[in-house]
Amino acid sequence: MSGELEAALLGELALSPGFVSGEKLARALRVSRATVSRLARRLVEEGYPVEAHPKLGYRLVASDDLSAAARYVGALKASLSFTLCYLESCSSTQEVAAALAEAGAGEGTVVVAEEQTAGRGRLGRSWVSPRGGLWFTVLLRPESLRLSHLLSLTAGVAVARSLRELFGVDAGLKWPNDVLVEGRKVAGILVEGSVEADRIRYALLGVGINVNNDLPPELRGSASSLKEFTGRPLPRVPLLLKVLKELDRAYSSLRSGAVESVLGEWRRLSVTLGKRVKVLSSDGVFEGVALDIDEWGGLLVESRDGGQRVFYAGDIVHLR
Ligand code: BTN
Repeated sequence: MSGELEAALLGELALSPGFVSGEKLARALRVSRATVSRLARRLVEEGYPVEAHPKLGYRLVASDDLSAAARYVGALKASLSFTLCYLESCSSTQEVAAALAEAGAGEGTVVVAEEQTAGRGRLGRSWVSPRGGLWFTVLLRPESLRLSHLLSLTAGVAVARSLRELFGVDAGLKWPNDVLVEGRKVAGILVEGSVEADRIRYALLGVGINVNNDLPPELRGSASSLKEFTGRPLPRVPLLLKVLKELDRAYSSLRSGAVESVLGEWRRLSVTLGKRVKVLSSDGVFEGVALDIDEWGGLLVESRDGGQRVFYAGDIVHLR
């Protein structure tokens, strides 16, 4: 049985507020009702809170209530053992996760908050994080510097795949890891770490997804919330579970040395490769065509005169 059908069932359930009959699901997925029931069982085995009712059909429970997500996160079948710490409000989930990491919290600790009062973005920017969005940090302890470098691309892949499969939106990746839908940013990723000599003590993988929140007017041109694309509020619990599952899968691949498969997924989801870009890096501005990413996730750009450069940090602007 393919994981694609399982993902499709999860997607159907995530978009339906109540029970959906087995018959309707079977029609939507073009499979038999027996297959729907088998797929639903598989989702339950993987830790998704799918409830089956003999008459009413199937539904995903506790759809938008993050305060109730801890038990589902704890039950996820994954290589990392995820533990959720839920907060109504905090300065930044990165800060809380750093304190937990310093106190010895284990890999897979996830801090989620309904709102952040001092959300952090990449390159020292702030990240607007009102209620309705999904703001969380995952504590990881990658064994190598390269792994920690690749975390941000990996997380981009996990988020884009989740949005595509769960909500059917056409999510793509702008280097290094902005998640865009129709050219507007719906999610961002921030990786911060604590390094000692040449050892990574821990990495904090922060994910911010504009789900049901409104954006301030000054951001509306370049950013958007998912609810605008789907026309209705979306459930954040299945999204959190799905992103954690996808992250776990990609992180396991990285750890087992299958870096190319993760890079390949990033390339397939990329909306940057092949485009003319302007790179704004610490040592100036560089224009050219984005050709590829290298094995550390750096962006290879070729200028008009044929000169090539690889960038490991910075911002880019898509020119066409
Ligand atoms: C970006 O600039 O694109 C990265 C944004 C990352 C935002 C998330 S929200 C959860 C975590 N806590 C923070 O303060 N930042 C990250």
